[in-house]
Amino acid sequence: MQPTPHIGATNGVIAKTVLLPGDPLRAKYIAERYLTGVMQFNAVRNMLGYTGTYLGKPVSVMGSGMGVPSIGIYSYELIHFYGVKRLIRVGSCGSFQADIKLRDIVIGLSASTNSNYARQYKLPGTYAPSAAWSLLRQAVEVAEQKGIKVRVGNILSSDIFYDDDKDAWKQWAKMGVLAVEMEAAALYMNAARAGVEALCILTVSDSLVTHQATTAEERQNSFNQMVEIALELVSDCE
Ligand code: HPA
Repeated sequence: MQPTPHIGATNGVIAKTVLLPGDPLRAKYIAERYLTGVMQFNAVRNMLGYTGTYLGKPVSVMGSGMGVPSIGIYSYELIHFYGVKRLIRVGSCGSFQADIKLRDIVIGLSASTNSNYARQYKLPGTYAPSAAWSLLRQAVEVAEQKGIKVRVGNILSSDIFYDDDKDAWKQWAKMGVLAVEMEAAALYMNAARAGVEALCILTVSDSLVTHQATTAEERQNSFNQMVEIALELVSDCE
């Protein structure tokens, strides 16, 4: 079924690997800066999507929007209607730990959540949404080769940005959760349910510990490093 309700692309124009920044203008930026032979495949709801090549390998990049429902919709359609096999979120997060500083890179080994997304699977217990080991291992190796320090661990995919309880995050921090974002758990669940690979790479844009935040220029530089790791994971394999 193409086009889908949310992606106006025909079959065959989306690559097997898709990078997913939250902001569609970041998708445009990645396509323009890093890809060659770029074609735009989506503008529905301004959720811009592009396909091109990186070092000769086909890759697509598309906005995911913010939050579990949004990335849940886009990743489901990419997987089930366009045959996407590798989905790599490149986003930002808020640090929960004093030793995780602004602009650090955090990779989500697993994604705890306060979302009810997992309820649809009718599991007789609590599910642990996890990254694809193969992608995670490659990402860590690439970062080591490039001399980029990364922190790997449990992240929180929260449904709430403006929490009524300003201290709720501290409970997660006590459990060793590294940082908060709003999408990874849904991405990991959709990928697991479909038997495809997903990974979430984040840069720290703000700290809940120190209340500091990065400037737009700082965000851009650390964003590039993260994207350069993600692009090394592009593969056209089935
Ligand atoms: N909360 C949720 N998502 C985020 C944050 C945050 O503090 N920073 C970047 N993404």
